[in-house]
Amino acid sequence: MIIGGSASQKLAAKVANQLDDYLCPIETRKFPDGERYVRIKGELEDEIVVVQSTGYPQDENIMELFFILKTLKSLGADNIKVVIPYFGYGRQEKRFNSGESISAEIMANMLEFAGASELYCVNLHEKSMADFFNIPVTNLSAMGSIAEYVGVMLDDPVIIAPDKGALGHAQEVADILKCPCDHMEKTRLSPDTVETRVKNLDVDGRQAVIIDDIISTGGTIVNASNILQDYGAESVTVTCVHPVLVDDAILKIFATGVSDVLSTDTLTSQVSSISVAPLIAKALK
Ligand code: R5P
Repeated sequence: MIIGGSASQKLAAKVANQLDDYLCPIETRKFPDGERYVRIKGELEDEIVVVQSTGYPQDENIMELFFILKTLKSLGADNIKVVIPYFGYGRQEKRFNSGESISAEIMANMLEFAGASELYCVNLHEKSMADFFNIPVTNLSAMGSIAEYVGVMLDDPVIIAPDKGALGHAQEVADILKCPCDHMEKTRLSPDTVETRVKNLDVDGRQAVIIDDIISTGGTIVNASNILQDYGAESVTVTCVHPVLVDDAILKIFATGVSDVLSTDTLTSQVSSISVAPLIAKALK
């Protein structure tokens, strides 16, 4: 049976549909003072899958997930697979400055404490985060789903990673589409300011596709899009796995003249047109 937390109900329904599984009714709401309320309304089955992304509002979605898991445990469930398509707090996976909390590790500890038996995620920001867990972790890649979508739209694109960290993703897509791939160099100056440099880019007259794992403020993509157009790209299409999209990120990106912005539905957004439901369903099988 599949349970969808309030952040991922459509995706949970799609996964249940793909697997021909029971989508368990659940009531989640807030009390007038803002505290969360959770009630599992269906009969429990032996194997339970809970789907809940932990994007904005992160703390509320995380608390709701913990309530769901602990409630299932106290109702007798002992095999709970947790699917967190977008793993919030995943970008604080080490101490960048002394005294900082390693938030991703604390999330891992708390998920185990809450009763997760197994975890499935999509493109964790850092693969090494899986080491924080003592339960099995499956880190799925949405690059195949993105490649399939891009392959239908464009004939002979060039795939661009807006920083070195995204190069593995870009290469994965380029390998599937059998097309060239390149990357830029990025330095983050502050949470919402980045500086981007390139050595050389062969994109003149080409259809460029930018691939990143996350679009948050949009600063990374805005720089990359401007550079690609300066280098003569015929068109720029932006893709990402997790559309975090802070404030007017989408508007800022479109204002650079990109043709389209496409993301998966690990988070619900205006651009979540590529579903990871088949990917998750296949992994759960
Ligand atoms: C960074 O390591 C990530 O891969 C993304 O490039 C980053 O999170 C994007 O952030 P923003 O949209 O704020 O530039």
